[in-house]
Amino acid sequence: MKTIYVLNGPNLNLLGKRQPEIYGHETLDDVARICAAAADPGFEIRLEQSNHEGVLIDWIHEAREASCGIVINPAALTHSSIAILDALNAYDPPVIEVHLSQVHKRESFRHHSFVSRRADGVIAGLGVEGYAAAVRRICQLAGAKG
Ligand code: DQA
Repeated sequence: MKTIYVLNGPNLNLLGKRQPEIYGHETLDDVARICAAAADPGFEIRLEQSNHEGVLIDWIHEAREASCGIVINPAALTHSSIAILDALNAYDPPVIEVHLSQVHKRESFRHHSFVSRRADGVIAGLGVEGYAAAVRRICQLAGAKG
């Protein structure tokens, strides 16, 4: 089995309850189900969420040995965390950055992403469907590598 890490940053534990007009009504459990359904046979999903930057960094380090790709929604840390960018720069397999909302339509402080300097793909504004698209892309890239 190849493992895809699906990492979620601060406040995404409240998905479904938090500003549903922006982030939708689906929960993180729904995201886990959607990712599992999107993965090709032979791939498994490890979905994690933390409100703490260092915990997310530890998972990225762990993923170096344990995964074939990372889907990451760093949430607000997208716009501030050089440390998450550095961790991803030390990770070789594909990285896809996902945002539920269309960040470029929102406040200007959401327009800049440190993570985008490393991401192989960026998806914004597709809601939870963005995670499915990201998982399919990782399967395609990792599958092609054999
Ligand atoms: C988000 C967008 C970020 O700007 C915000 O801080 C989030 C969620 C999104 O999924 O749309 O927490 O990453």
